[in-house]
Amino acid sequence: MQPEIFADYNALSLHAANKIIELVKNKPKAVISLASGDTPRLMCKLMTEIAIRENVDFTQSTFIGLDEWVGIPPENTGSCHFFFKTLVFEPLHLLPAQIHLFNALADNLVQECSVMDKTIREKGGIDLIIVGVGMNGHIGFNEPGTSFDHYSHVTELDNTTLTVGQKYFTLPVTLKKGITLGLKHLLESKEAFVLASGLKKAAIIQKTIEDKISSQIPATVIRSHPRGVVMIDEEAASLLKKQTS
Ligand code: F6R
Repeated sequence: MQPEIFADYNALSLHAANKIIELVKNKPKAVISLASGDTPRLMCKLMTEIAIRENVDFTQSTFIGLDEWVGIPPENTGSCHFFFKTLVFEPLHLLPAQIHLFNALADNLVQECSVMDKTIREKGGIDLIIVGVGMNGHIGFNEPGTSFDHYSHVTELDNTTLTVGQKYFTLPVTLKKGITLGLKHLLESKEAFVLASGLKKAAIIQKTIEDKISSQIPATVIRSHPRGVVMIDEEAASLLKKQTS
């Protein structure tokens, strides 16, 4: 697989934002699943800016949250809920019926997963899923070793994820588990992008593109997707053997 390489984080984010806009213009009922986190932050901001400027109609679209930290309430500024609420849902004035996020405070998280899987099925599947990649290669909270055959599930978070995850929170939090869409959702989505930016992602991007496809590096799943694209900036591409722009 040849990744799409952009000069920098701004160019990468603008390209991905325009892809979402293009999809919604062509298919107003699009079902979109996005990761939260540092990588898609600018993409989300640019996407809402373009949507407002060009008056793109998002009223029929559906947003599916990729994952959430178990036990973290939606009002916590480090939660995935908070990220989407402030960066996407409020600026686009989406209605609650258009939004499907995991309730990570639910007593029955297994049922929460079943509800999410059913919602995705009933909506006809995900049109576009855009994910980031963790330092350990995780996608959503599909940690190394997770089967590509799983739909939504609750995960024990890897030590790397627990440590790196603190960056989203203003106060230290106890993170243990995650609730996440599965890699089967990514494989079944009509289009899938993995985004990565910066030198710190160069090593995992090299593995994602050049190592063999394996559940030990969940991000390699993107190479099994017929319409999967890895979109990265030059820094994230800096360790690749062969660079193509
Ligand atoms: C967050 C998520 C995670 C992140 C990954 C990269 O919703 O699904 O898998 O995409 O940890 O995070 P950043 O972009 O902050 O480097």
